[in-house]
Amino acid sequence: MPSSSTIAELIATRRVLITAGAGGVGKTTTAAAVALAAAMRGKRVLCLTIDPARRLAQSLGLEHMTTEAVEVRREILAGVGVPEAGSLTVMMLDTKQTFDELVHKYSSTKERAEKLLGNRLYQYVSASLAGTQEYMAMEKLIAVQSDARFDLIVLDTPPTANALDFLDAPDRLVEALDSPTMRWFVQAFQSTGRFSLNLLARSAALVLRTLGRVTGGGFLEALAELLAQLNDLFGGFKERAALVKSVLRSKEVSFLLVTSPAPMSIREVRFFSERLVEHQMPCGAFIVNRVHTPPRVVQSTIQQIDDVLKLHGIIKEPDLASRVEQAHADAVKLAQLDAFFLEQLAQHVDERVPVIRVPEFATDVHDVAMLARVARTLEAGGV
Ligand SMILES: Nc1ncnc2c1ncn2[C@@H]1O[C@H](COP(=O)(O)OP(=O)(O)OP(=O)(O)O)[C@@H](O)[C@H]1O
Ligand SMILES: [Mg+2]
Repeated sequence: MPSSSTIAELIATRRVLITAGAGGVGKTTTAAAVALAAAMRGKRVLCLTIDPARRLAQSLGLEHMTTEAVEVRREILAGVGVPEAGSLTVMMLDTKQTFDELVHKYSSTKERAEKLLGNRLYQYVSASLAGTQEYMAMEKLIAVQSDARFDLIVLDTPPTANALDFLDAPDRLVEALDSPTMRWFVQAFQSTGRFSLNLLARSAALVLRTLGRVTGGGFLEALAELLAQLNDLFGGFKERAALVKSVLRSKEVSFLLVTSPAPMSIREVRFFSERLVEHQMPCGAFIVNRVHTPPRVVQSTIQQIDDVLKLHGIIKEPDLASRVEQAHADAVKLAQLDAFFLEQLAQHVDERVPVIRVPEFATDVHDVAMLARVARTLEAGGV
């Protein structure tokens, strides 16, 4: 059963809350709602978000989507009951900018950093290397974690196809940078300062020579140079990946695993929660979003409404009652189906971790009033 104090308790006792789950289930919405719920309790909150819906961002007064921290205006917050002591700051995560900052931090010299940032392939690689986006989200978290201006940091996670990607991101990034292919390139480049295919195994050289012809004009040199420079940072990245993992293990952190009632999505958060246990990382709650709840109107009421409408000639459709009845029956079935799937979740996860259900609303969560509604639902322990 949902505990009415779960979210309130997490807000009161944790410094970092991270929403994770499959693509499109409501991670960004939940992160924003939890952040607002905390502000309503007088906390100074930083919400690190990725790609929020434009309408929602605008409703929070964030017309210009910048990567700077933007404080939501007091009158907007006061409108949904945030007390004077509470505040909400929103910051959009920017993968490339965070990567640039790391390059500066870990390059052995300023010149090397600038050379790397100036490499024409850097921009592409820094945005598309496996795990970069997830890793940089965690990096940003570490950077702001000890910021005394905030009592709580809520971290949204990227729209990965697979929620588990998030936990594996640090290792995957280090692996990608340190793979045999990368090492070939680096070796071929480093010994002479110029790219030399002669240093590679014959088969690899053949592949690269062909690639060189296809890609043309200095592409391989630029790539090799970039990899050699990234190599310069490997020590730094490895160290950081270990630090990131240890931060996620701390008692101040909790994951909120967001899922829809669909079996696939439930399966994914179940796996994710098992991985959290393996990694000794704490799971604070399961949030089942967009649950179909049984319709409140009972059938006898539908018949009465129909009678009144017909009596006064407001609606003349003869089959109205049966259509309304059908819609009602469908809604009941949907709610039963969701309840069945949720039972499967409850049976398979640690019973100490609460399951909070948020209903499917009639519209998207596109403004502050709706967000406050989700926040209050979460606070109340769900429906
Ligand atoms: N309970 C709800 N009822 C109705 N609409 C909802 C609900 N929760 C979220 N939505 C809507 O669903 C859409 C997707 O939500 P959101 O962006 O939070 O998902 P996400 O998990 O962050 O997606 P991504 O994986 O792409 O980052 C948004 O338009 C949001 O307004
Ligand atoms: Mg999102």
